[in-house]
Amino acid sequence: MTDPLPIDWYPPEAYGELADGIAEVLISAEEIRRRVLDIGKAISHDYTDEDPLLIGVLKGVVPFMADLLRAITIPVELDFMAVASYSAEARNQGMVRLEKDLSLPITGRHVLFVEDIIDTGLTLNYLLRNLRVREPASLDVCVLFDRPDHRLIDIPIKYKGFDLPDRLVVGYGLDYRGRYRNLPFVGQLKPEVFRNNVERR
Ligand code: PRP
Repeated sequence: MTDPLPIDWYPPEAYGELADGIAEVLISAEEIRRRVLDIGKAISHDYTDEDPLLIGVLKGVVPFMADLLRAITIPVELDFMAVASYSAEARNQGMVRLEKDLSLPITGRHVLFVEDIIDTGLTLNYLLRNLRVREPASLDVCVLFDRPDHRLIDIPIKYKGFDLPDRLVVGYGLDYRGRYRNLPFVGQLKPEVFRNNVERR
């Protein structure tokens, strides 16, 4: 079978304007691809015959979910949630508003919650509590990017991609003011990008 995630599918030269905002590539597209393939392989092994349901929370998870899905070689189903913060203060207290709920029931299902990034852990803690009430057969977490130093609440993680440094990073789903999610790598944003934005306000 051919490679499910060919690296040359990405046109790096086409990211001109976006890539100009990047000071340094911290995790390359090739490194991400290898890690996603490894995680997909582990999930395919661990969930054989369990008909798992992958759940993602929009929007940052989209690139990871799309690649992970194609790296998994067993039957899976897919669903999404969306959340919004009431306010920064409310979020700091672990309160988020459910903007979009699942379309599938999860009772008795083996659920794998897929996240692009865990920072404080507050969002995921809220969502996991919400999902546990629905009595899934199992509920575990798969995250691509982690910031363990920022954690305010402990979240058990079954599959993890990379620890991120404490810098303003974008790409592969991670955004700055809604942009840069489409970069196939993770890079550090140039200081002038956010400096310019502050000056323009
Ligand atoms: C990110 C990520 C998690 C949350 C993690 O979403 O997808 O949902 O932040 O942060 P926490 O661990 O501190 O709670 P974000 O709010 O950036 O939205 P997005 O996915 O639409 O970019």
